[in-house]
Amino acid sequence: MPAFAVRTGQHTYQNVVERGLLQRVSEHIPASAGKRFVVTTEDVWRLHGPVLAAQFDGNVEVLFFPGGEANKRLSVVEALAEQMVARGADRSSYVIGFGGGIVTDVSGFLAAIFMRGIPIVQVPTTLLAQVDAATGGKNGVNLVSGKNLIGSFHQPEAVLIDPEVLSTLPDREYRAGLFEVIKCGVIRDAALFEMMEREAGRVLAKDADCVDRLIAAAVRIKAEVVSADERESDLRRILNFGHTIGHAIEAETEYVRFLHGEAIAWGMLAATKLAELTGVLAPAEAVRIQKTICRYGSLPPAKDLQPDRLMARLSSDKKTVQGKVHFVLPTRIGAVTVMSGIPNEAIRQAILESLT
Ligand SMILES: NC(=O)c1ccc[n+]([C@@H]2O[C@H](COP(=O)([O-])OP(=O)(O)OC[C@H]3O[C@@H](n4cnc5c(N)ncnc54)[C@H](O)[C@@H]3O)[C@@H](O)[C@H]2O)c1
Ligand SMILES: [Zn+2]
Repeated sequence: MPAFAVRTGQHTYQNVVERGLLQRVSEHIPASAGKRFVVTTEDVWRLHGPVLAAQFDGNVEVLFFPGGEANKRLSVVEALAEQMVARGADRSSYVIGFGGGIVTDVSGFLAAIFMRGIPIVQVPTTLLAQVDAATGGKNGVNLVSGKNLIGSFHQPEAVLIDPEVLSTLPDREYRAGLFEVIKCGVIRDAALFEMMEREAGRVLAKDADCVDRLIAAAVRIKAEVVSADERESDLRRILNFGHTIGHAIEAETEYVRFLHGEAIAWGMLAATKLAELTGVLAPAEAVRIQKTICRYGSLPPAKDLQPDRLMARLSSDKKTVQGKVHFVLPTRIGAVTVMSGIPNEAIRQAILESLT
C-alpha cells in the first residue's frame, strides 16, 4: 500500500495509507520508546480503541479529552500534560494522536511542548484528519479571540492512515472531508478531480477502492506540498483554496452552522466564481468545479450571510499578510494561481452570486 514521504527541516517521515493498519500501529513505534500515551476522545476509543490497546498488551496510557472545537484550548493541553506527569511521563515518552482533526491538533501541540518536545505518531480517524490535519506538523489551539491562534510546527514520526476506520464516521463528517479532497484535485491533480467528478456515487457509498485511491491522492499532494514548503510561505498557500472566504463564513456563523469542510465548499464556490469574474478561469471549467462540489452537497444554507460582513472578516484572517488579502484561484482544473489586489466589487459579486 502507498506510503508518501514528507521531507522537512525537522525530519523525514512516512504517511502510510493501508487498510487494517490500525492493527499494526505498535510496529511503527520504536522498541526503545518509553511510555505510550494515547490522546483521544471517548467516542473514538469506544469504537476503535480495543484494536489499538490489544497491540500494547494493555501497556498504554489513554488520555481522554471531550473533543469539539470549544475544547481545543490551552487549558486542555495543560490538563493533559499534568495527567502525563502524574502517570510517569518523561522525555522518552511517546504520544499517539488518535482521532479527528481536533485530536491531531491538540495532541500535536501537547507533544510539541511537553518537556520541550517529545515524539508523536498520528493515527487520524476522520477523512479530514487523514487527508489534511494529521500531515504537515501544524498543530494548535484556539483563543477566545480566534481559531488556531496558538500553535507550533512539530512534525510527527509517522502518520498512519487506515481507511477502514471511516466505516463508523457519520455521513456528514465524511462528506465534509470529501470537499478537502475535491480541493486537492482542483489545485494540483486533474485525475483526482475527474475521479471525484465521475465516480461520486461510488465515493459517497464509501466504495473501498475509491476511498483508498482518493485518500492516497490527497495525502500525496499534502506530503509533496509540505515537503516543498514546510512553513506556508508560498507553495503551501495553494492548500488554502476556498479557505479565504471559507474561514470568514465559519467565523461569521461562530463555528456552529458549518463543519469546516462545508464552509470550505462554499468558499471554493465563491473562489471559483471569482476566478471566472477575474478572467483567469474559463467558464466551462468553473461549471465543472461548481457541479462537482454540489454533487457532494446538502450544504447548510449560506444565503443569509452578508457579503460586506464576510469581506470585513477577510482582512482580519490569520492568513492575511500586512492587510493584503490573497486568493487562491483556479486557472484550470489541476492548477491555481495566488492573487492579491482584487477589487472589492469583484469579491462582493462573487460572494453574492455563489452563496445562494
Ligand atoms: N493542523 C492542520 O493542518 C489542520 C488542517 C485541517 C483542519 N484542522 C483542524 O481540524 C479540526 C477539525 O477536524 P475534524 O473535521 O476531523 O473534526 P473532529 O476532530 O471534531 O471530528 C469530528 C467528529 O467525528 C468523531 N470521530 C472521529 N473519528 C471517528 C470515526 N472513525 N468514527 C466515528 N466518529 C469519529 C469525533 O469524535 C468528532 O465528534 C479543526 O479544529 C481544524 O482547525 C487542522
Ligand atoms: Zn481545510
